Amino acid sequence: MVSKYKSNKIKIAVVGVGNCFSALYQGFSYYKDHKDEDVPGLMFKDIGGYAPTDIEVVAAFDVDERKVGKPVGQAIFEKPNCARVFMPEVPAGPKVQMGNVLDGVSDYMLAQPEDESFRLSEIDTVDVVQAIKDSGASILVNYLPVGSQKATEFYAQAAIDAGVAFLNCIPVFIASNPVWEKKFIDAGLPIVGDDMRSAFGASILSQVLQELAFDRGFAVDFHQQINIGGNTDFNNMMVQSRLSSKKESKENVIKAQNELRGIPIEANSLFAGPSTYIPYLKDNKVAYFNLRLRGFGGQPVTLDIKLSVQDSENSAGVVIDAIRYLQVARELGVVGALRGPSAWTQKTPPQQMMYADAKAACEALAKRQLPEQN
Ligand SMILES: NC(=O)c1ccc[n+]([C@@H]2O[C@H](COP(=O)([O-])OP(=O)(O)OC[C@H]3O[C@@H](n4cnc5c(N)ncnc54)[C@H](O)[C@@H]3O)[C@@H](O)[C@H]2O)c1
Repeated sequence: MVSKYKSNKIKIAVVGVGNCFSALYQGFSYYKDHKDEDVPGLMFKDIGGYAPTDIEVVAAFDVDERKVGKPVGQAIFEKPNCARVFMPEVPAGPKVQMGNVLDGVSDYMLAQPEDESFRLSEIDTVDVVQAIKDSGASILVNYLPVGSQKATEFYAQAAIDAGVAFLNCIPVFIASNPVWEKKFIDAGLPIVGDDMRSAFGASILSQVLQELAFDRGFAVDFHQQINIGGNTDFNNMMVQSRLSSKKESKENVIKAQNELRGIPIEANSLFAGPSTYIPYLKDNKVAYFNLRLRGFGGQPVTLDIKLSVQDSENSAGVVIDAIRYLQVARELGVVGALRGPSAWTQKTPPQQMMYADAKAACEALAKRQLPEQN
């Protein structure tokens, strides 16, 4: 029988061997073990002929002394990672190489307890561009801590110099910044970003609740989304100057739904952001939603919801798709920021879309149809 899947693997390099990567790497093994079953957790099985298990990690960069020099299959289980271990047996994979620290690690994090924070390795930084080239990767995935402006720009440029596509999972604005998008277009490379929109996370829930209200003829007067968690991502965002881009990115999701319908929401009627760090929650993120709507006869309706998820697993489902969209785009010669996949998998894409429109654009690319834009 001829397989409908392609025979080649998608080779990826990764920056940041933290909790999100741990969940993703474990997921590769999980879905390999459950290849022929209808298991939950994936939005698309086949994207342009690639299965979720057709992804191979060929290089990884980090700066933490407990991770650098170890095989990724071991490094993902080192402290301060606290993502749930659902696949204890994973392939060793390549060794984690020493990246370029820049602003990836804050003084605040270095002063935090060891098990809840980062500790810098003293090993010399490798030549990142050469290491990506040597690995044969076609995509670089960015999982740096929030607030890593200089480090993200460094790795984005490294992707361009090494001739690989870029998946920017964090709220430093690259795919949504026209200056950076042009650099990728000029280099003939596709990019997806910015800041992952988890598969069943707070952002997508805020979006669909708001779309539902509009579709049923209601006005949304107030939308509040409070997030708490206990992983290093939440700890790192205790530094207010680092947190601001995450808040902006989360609010972009909600604002976009109003703007797409020409009914802007008042600035003082909107809050969406990480609210505090509670260590014992570990990778469990809890989000509280309060929406105040106006319906029939101008009368109020209030909605209060609580969402409780494992943060990192929740993000892996969109990354496993975004990687495949980038690979298909590369093969089709599509360059620049991928509008549909960015709107579907990220909070701050270059162009926000309604849920159904973003999904349709992804489905078209999954069938190898060229997008109208890009
Ligand atoms: N559901 C989610 O968890 C979710 C959703 C959207 C966006 N994100 C974003 O994804 C990013 C990764 O999240 P995470 O939970 O894996 O974070 P994490 O804190 O667990 O991991 C970050 C990793 O980056 C490493 N690092 C720091 N500076 C570095 C540098 N200069 N070079 C190489 N490595 C460096 C750290 O040592 C650590 O291993 C964060 O920015 C987060 O906000 C996460």
